[in-house]
Amino acid sequence: MMANIIIPYYSMYGHVFQLANEVVKGAEQTGAEVKLAKVREFEEVRQAMAEDDAYIKAQEAQKEIPEAEHEDLKWADGIIWGVPTRYGNMPAQLKQFLDSAGALWMNGELEGKATAVFTSTGSIHGGQETTAITTLVPLLHFGLIYVGLPYGENQEMLTTEGIGGSPYAASTIAGVDGSNQPVEQEFTMARRLGARVAHVSEKLSQ
Ligand SMILES: Cc1cc2nc3c(=O)[nH]c(=O)nc-3n(C[C@H](O)[C@H](O)[C@H](O)COP(=O)(O)O)c2cc1C
Repeated sequence: MMANIIIPYYSMYGHVFQLANEVVKGAEQTGAEVKLAKVREFEEVRQAMAEDDAYIKAQEAQKEIPEAEHEDLKWADGIIWGVPTRYGNMPAQLKQFLDSAGALWMNGELEGKATAVFTSTGSIHGGQETTAITTLVPLLHFGLIYVGLPYGENQEMLTTEGIGGSPYAASTIAGVDGSNQPVEQEFTMARRLGARVAHVSEKLSQ
């Protein structure tokens, strides 16, 4: 049986959304059934950003994407989280989604499923690695099994260039003013992450 994969993500300015689309492609290439779902925005953020052109444009591009529900996590065999950094940690929107999933935790609903993270930071050292590692902490409480990016098939990581991608997560660097766009190596690693989680999920669910 092919795996069901859910990709819950949050993206204020669209970089994580772009990576998410590549993660979808990679997972779909394995034959998995894949759902992309955005984590719910806070009303106060929506209001505060109502005049911000970059935010408006990025949200417009995501308007057809359904909002993530806890049911999606139950449906899935694998969960790949799109997590832009906030002070080296996950955004509160995603924390809220996890913090309100206590019933899933209590019933062990997600235990034994595969999981992974992709991220984006403003600067090179602003949390590429810490965001993945700190996100791992609650994921382990849910009993999820973490899938990273191995060097073997991700030789792009063996670099001193300022590009994303680490053993912990696929990633991109948005630029301090958000004007960078993901580069092809980052998209490639995002697709590989999607495929890898789909393969692992399929095996774990057998
Ligand atoms: C409140 C806040 C805190 C942030 N903290 C960091 C940070 O610690 N390090 C960093 O490199 N970028 C930081 N950023 C930049 C975001 O990570 C960046 O905007 C994001 O990766 C872009 O992804 P998106 O286009 O999907 O929203 C922060 C942004 C906001 C709004």
